[in-house]
Amino acid sequence: MVPEIQYRNVGPSGLRVSTVGLGCNNFGRPKTATESQEGTNAVVSAALDSGITLFDTADIYGGTRGLSETLMGNALKGRRGEIVLATKFGMDMDGKNGPDWGARGSRRYIRLAVEASLTRLQTDWIDLYQLHAPDPLAPIDETLAALDELIQEGKVRYIGHSNFSGWQIADAEYRAQLAGHPKFISAQNEYSLIERSVELDVLPAVSAYGLGFLPFFPLFNGLFTGKYTRSGGGPADGRLTVIRPEALARVDWDAMERYQAFCDERGITMLEATFGWFLARPGVTSVIAGATKPEQIEQNIAAGTAWTPSAEDIATISDFFPR
Ligand SMILES: NC(=O)c1ccc[n+]([C@@H]2O[C@H](COP(=O)([O-])OP(=O)(O)OC[C@H]3O[C@@H](n4cnc5c(N)ncnc54)[C@H](OP(=O)(O)O)[C@@H]3O)[C@@H](O)[C@H]2O)c1
Repeated sequence: MVPEIQYRNVGPSGLRVSTVGLGCNNFGRPKTATESQEGTNAVVSAALDSGITLFDTADIYGGTRGLSETLMGNALKGRRGEIVLATKFGMDMDGKNGPDWGARGSRRYIRLAVEASLTRLQTDWIDLYQLHAPDPLAPIDETLAALDELIQEGKVRYIGHSNFSGWQIADAEYRAQLAGHPKFISAQNEYSLIERSVELDVLPAVSAYGLGFLPFFPLFNGLFTGKYTRSGGGPADGRLTVIRPEALARVDWDAMERYQAFCDERGITMLEATFGWFLARPGVTSVIAGATKPEQIEQNIAAGTAWTPSAEDIATISDFFPR
């Protein structure tokens, strides 16, 4: 039976999304089952059919720039209205949007980027449009004003940022308020049990301004599914095995084995414990885990409701992986 999916508002907005989302940076990625249109269709259909509503992509994702958005546009045909489509702009598109001289938060560039994303996604609107990284060359006031225009025109519904530091989150909030622009409703930064630096300044800012938080690499590319072990390594086609062997080589297996024993004692999987830990963290709106196979979607959805940790459980898990 498909477990009942849960929904949360993204920060202070009225936008509601499933607490288990789908990260889409595997679509069009070489050496994955989702490299092809067929593989992408299988994962997108599984997500749609099981009630996932938040799909998070970016214009740069895919083996070539724009490919993830293109494959998604095809996969979502006829079902676009069922989901909350989040994409991003602002990272280097290798000239695909024309020359940008590095200023990808400028009004000039944003107008080009949004049209290109809308075309690839085969849609008239983006539900959550995120600045992928801070742009030191364009004033944030100009970025906010350009995004305001897109909202007024109906091309974008809500805006978010990614990879901002705590002070940049505060600055953007203040400047939007001062100029009367719509505010960013979400922050997206790397956060997992072994990458917890956002707890120092990003999450306090997220909490102070009531933003929604979307952790990226939440499973550390599959490590926290429990399928990688000290003795066995991991699956031959797994992301860490194929693309990030250097990250796998740095894993603290003593900590991983303590965590696995904790899960075994409670009769839960590491995947369930990890989703439970995330969804109990203040500010976390949705765990946007990636997936390369439909069965991973089913497991991730089930994990989203399988286990609610106590405060003591959260502290114990956090202690396995000191910051
Ligand atoms: N804002 C940013 O700068 C930024 C940067 C990076 C990523 N992101 C976002 O974060 C999302 C998630 O990141 P990610 O996909 O790279 O990493 P992730 O969510 O930590 O790991 C996902 C990977 O774990 C494996 N997996 C997932 N569920 C599984 C299951 N139930 N059982 C076994 N294996 C499972 C799959 O890889 P295998 O099948 O290959 O093992 C999957 O691709 C991205 O898609 C993107 O939307 C944002």
